[in-house]
Amino acid sequence: MQPLVAPSLLAFDLSRMADEVRALEAAGADVLHLDVMDGHFVPNLTFGLPVIEALRKVTKLPFDAHLMVTNPDQHLEQYARVGCNWLSVHVEVCPHLHRTLAHIRELGMKAGVAINPGTSLSALDAILAPDSPADFVLMMTVNPGFAGQKFVGGGMERIAKLRTLIGERVGSGKIKIEVDGSLKVENAGQAVAAGAEVLVVGSGIAATKDWKATISAIKATGASR
Ligand code: DX5
Ligand code: ZN
Repeated sequence: MQPLVAPSLLAFDLSRMADEVRALEAAGADVLHLDVMDGHFVPNLTFGLPVIEALRKVTKLPFDAHLMVTNPDQHLEQYARVGCNWLSVHVEVCPHLHRTLAHIRELGMKAGVAINPGTSLSALDAILAPDSPADFVLMMTVNPGFAGQKFVGGGMERIAKLRTLIGERVGSGKIKIEVDGSLKVENAGQAVAAGAEVLVVGSGIAATKDWKATISAIKATGASR
């Protein structure tokens, strides 16, 4: 199966956001990944609602907002209002996970649970069930906060383990696996083979000359599977 490719805007030229987004859409991106950081949950600040709202006018790509914030419940309605289609919250900061995910769905968005490389997959136990309120898991393969970091060891094995758990407890394909962190043409095939269905790619596209060729090459890594 060919993966969906979700470029992470953070890795591109933020002084030319609108142009970069249009170029990514033309290059064959499937989804636009938007990294929202609050300076508390992660040691960095990026952009939030007004910027997302402004970008909504320049592209038809679905918006996948990854909330790296301590209080994700605070602005859920607003993310829907500004045009987000997928919304993920971190399991590490969600004490009422079912409620939060159900709320995201009620607002008409796909509900995702993001999980850091250092968090045991057992943190997902409660939502890996046939009546799961989650549409996808966002498996981090770097510690969130910055684009262009190094892949954290064991990431591929965690993807494979999660795929097995979803197959056993929820049903194959019922919860999608999105992977985020240090993916590029060279390791995308491994991630897809392990079970990744959506690949977030930042510097793995931004640092290449021909984004269209890079996105095609990433998609092709899943072609024969
Ligand atoms: C990390 C972010 C990622 C990041 C990806 O905190 O969640 O989405 O921008 O960038 P690369 O692909 O360069 O690791
Ligand atoms: Zn992200």
